[in-house]
Amino acid sequence: MHMSSLLPTLPGHYYTDPSLFAVEQDRIFAAMWFCVVRSSDIATPGAFRTVPVGGESVLVTRNSAGAARAFLNVCRHRGAQLCASPEGSVKRTFRCAYHAWAYDLDGRLVAAPNLVKMPDVDRVEYGLRNVHVREWLGYVWVCLADVPPSFEDEVQGACVERLGDLASVERYGIADLAVGRRIRYDVKANWKLIIENFMECYHCATIHPELTHVLPEFAGGYAAQSYVGHGAEFGPDVQGFTVDGSAGVQTIAGIDESQDRRYFAVTIKPQVFINLVPDHVIIHRMFPLAVDRTIVECDWLYLPSVVESGVDLSRSVELFDLVNRQDFEACESCQPGMASRSYARGGVLVPSEHHISEFHEWARSKIA
Ligand code: FES
Ligand code: FE
Repeated sequence: MHMSSLLPTLPGHYYTDPSLFAVEQDRIFAAMWFCVVRSSDIATPGAFRTVPVGGESVLVTRNSAGAARAFLNVCRHRGAQLCASPEGSVKRTFRCAYHAWAYDLDGRLVAAPNLVKMPDVDRVEYGLRNVHVREWLGYVWVCLADVPPSFEDEVQGACVERLGDLASVERYGIADLAVGRRIRYDVKANWKLIIENFMECYHCATIHPELTHVLPEFAGGYAAQSYVGHGAEFGPDVQGFTVDGSAGVQTIAGIDESQDRRYFAVTIKPQVFINLVPDHVIIHRMFPLAVDRTIVECDWLYLPSVVESGVDLSRSVELFDLVNRQDFEACESCQPGMASRSYARGGVLVPSEHHISEFHEWARSKIA
């Protein structure tokens, strides 16, 4: 059988149709594990964040026992938004601004004006709607499904599939690293364009001169597959994963020889990218807000001693910040084209991008 070297992409409307995006919100983002905040963002009981997940606002907090908890951010009385601010902290309760119903850090309804006169109001029944929570790699992951998929299979399994075993990611001690820098990007592109871009390196030679200097094999365009398992090696004249190839900071002690002077990348569907280098870890979390708009929050994580020392991280951060801006600009340049007649039946994937069609099949299977 003749196998074409060109494979079809998804048709353009997959990136522009709001009703299709609504289905994705429901069957992908509300159905799967979704990485919402760094554990240190809700460091103490009552610290909270509100985050957009699967078309819902989710309230993420920590209870008095120190466990992460998450709820739909909707008052059970008449449906007011419970927490209006994206972040903050409360002492013991979340109090609705409308009629003052109050919920504790485990989501139980604990107070309501005149509630004593209303013994029929069940405080558990009218508690906040719970959302499943896991903490892993120093991040809080939530799942809005009634019965969540296996975290081990879907989230940790993605790391195993990419790196060979879970130990390879755990050696970086990501949960114990500190946030050296966080940058939030507001990308005017469909979330799938961002995933597809992250999955291939055919574009690296064209738009990432700084990255291909540090990782010369990326210039070949086949890197996305070739570095599976062994990582992409730093160039011979490169000292560290920095914008100019100058030395990085202190190496993470736990990594082994095979991880030194190498870059590894993992995509955890549907919204997390992990980048591993010897002295830091870069984690992207995507928040799809609309069919043509995605917020990407990116953390640069280092040893706590490095962050505390106040050492200059700018050359370290600048490399992937540049890469991000180059990538997102490319994604944004594709978004209008998705609505063009020219792309009504989609485009094509060259051989070094063929693995993207697995992602397309996955997306189709979720939507169908
Ligand atoms: Fe929240 Fe009434 S809607 S207390
Ligand atoms: Fe890129």
